[in-house]
Amino acid sequence: MNKTILLLLATLTPLAISACTLLKRENTSPSTLKEAFEGRFAIGATIGKAMLQDDNHPSLLIAKQHFIALTAENAFKWAVINPSPGQYNFTAPDQFVGFGKNNGIQLVGHVLFWHSQTPDWVFEDLQGNPLDRDALLGRMRERAKMLATRYGDSIKVWDVVNEAINDDGSLRNSKFNQIIGDDFIEQAFRIAKDEFPKDSIFLYNDYSMTKPGRQSAVISMVNDFKARNIKIDGIGMQGHWSMETPTIIEIEKSLQAFSETQIPIHITELDLDYLGRSQFFGANVDIETLPATLENNPFPDGNFPPTADKRLAERYGQIFSALLKYSDNIERVTFWGINDSDSWLNDWPIKGRTNYPLLFNHNGQPKAALESLLKHVSQVLAPKEPSPIATH
Ligand code: G3I
Repeated sequence: MNKTILLLLATLTPLAISACTLLKRENTSPSTLKEAFEGRFAIGATIGKAMLQDDNHPSLLIAKQHFIALTAENAFKWAVINPSPGQYNFTAPDQFVGFGKNNGIQLVGHVLFWHSQTPDWVFEDLQGNPLDRDALLGRMRERAKMLATRYGDSIKVWDVVNEAINDDGSLRNSKFNQIIGDDFIEQAFRIAKDEFPKDSIFLYNDYSMTKPGRQSAVISMVNDFKARNIKIDGIGMQGHWSMETPTIIEIEKSLQAFSETQIPIHITELDLDYLGRSQFFGANVDIETLPATLENNPFPDGNFPPTADKRLAERYGQIFSALLKYSDNIERVTFWGINDSDSWLNDWPIKGRTNYPLLFNHNGQPKAALESLLKHVSQVLAPKEPSPIATH
């Protein structure tokens, strides 16, 4: 082969490959979520304890196939990993890290400091008296040091503080706040920065982030932290949403507002409560649950009617259209669970009802929402201009 032919081949081959990729995108839907959102945002899900105990759990197979980021649903919470002084349960977190490493999946640490699922002993001395500020800050530092030493090299992204701001923008009246004072969130981020590797990514994470009060408080806090050089690297919008609320307009306005802080947004806990919670909004686990009845538990046997499946698919489609508009500012979108059986929404706010919030059904089979998302995404992302090859 002479030099001219070689040069021609070298020039044309990449063009032909990219043309094929474009045509593939136009003509076929991607078959996995990670393929669908590649180059837009990382797509993730949570892993629960039951999955970690069984190497052949169907949700683990789905995790490997579809997701590039994983969060442990409960394994790192203070009450779970360190339920009493000196007692540590490392089995589940170690399995989580092992699974991520073996499969090349990015891991998210959930959660350093949260008013819920933190045992009472954390706030008390040996006699049961409340700790003072310095002693509680010391316990927080010990926990951060323990997690950083054991997992800091494997887990880059951490929810540093979870749910510390109320709907109206005021600070939640938690034991952390009562003992430390109003700078509890700031102190938590300072401790994380001191203890974790420099390249860690620190998030503030909360639910109902479309509520104006919470939203503006979070934005002010982020801007204040940035101005004072307190390391904060992302905003976690949980995304425990229902079929009607928040509206797409509210979601887009929130994405716009958070984008203006110029730190990335992570959608950290996405699910859609199909059965609804008209009496509540948000994901406040402190509220009282109600028992399941025929009225509030209409599909108890796992049979989700096709019309309902279609409605869920449409709502997911609309939400992802909004997320894709802001994909330059969104780093990751994580579903809170993999299949419907994994979901916390089978127990909250109605104890024991059968809910349908995710993309895979109670048997781990893909729902209409998954299919439509893959198809919809390929349409939204299809190149608008005809490809250069098609015009020749
Ligand atoms: O593991 C115990 C089990 O041994 C015991 O028999 C059983 C009895 O109820 O409880 C089991 O623990 C439960 C645990 O989930 C594991 O299933 C806890 O009671 C239950 O409270 C806990 O719920 C978790 C909840 O956070 C509170 O930690 C949910 O799984 C988890 O999905 C939910 O996740 C939160 C995020 O961390 C923060 N944002 C909101 C989100 C939804 O509430």
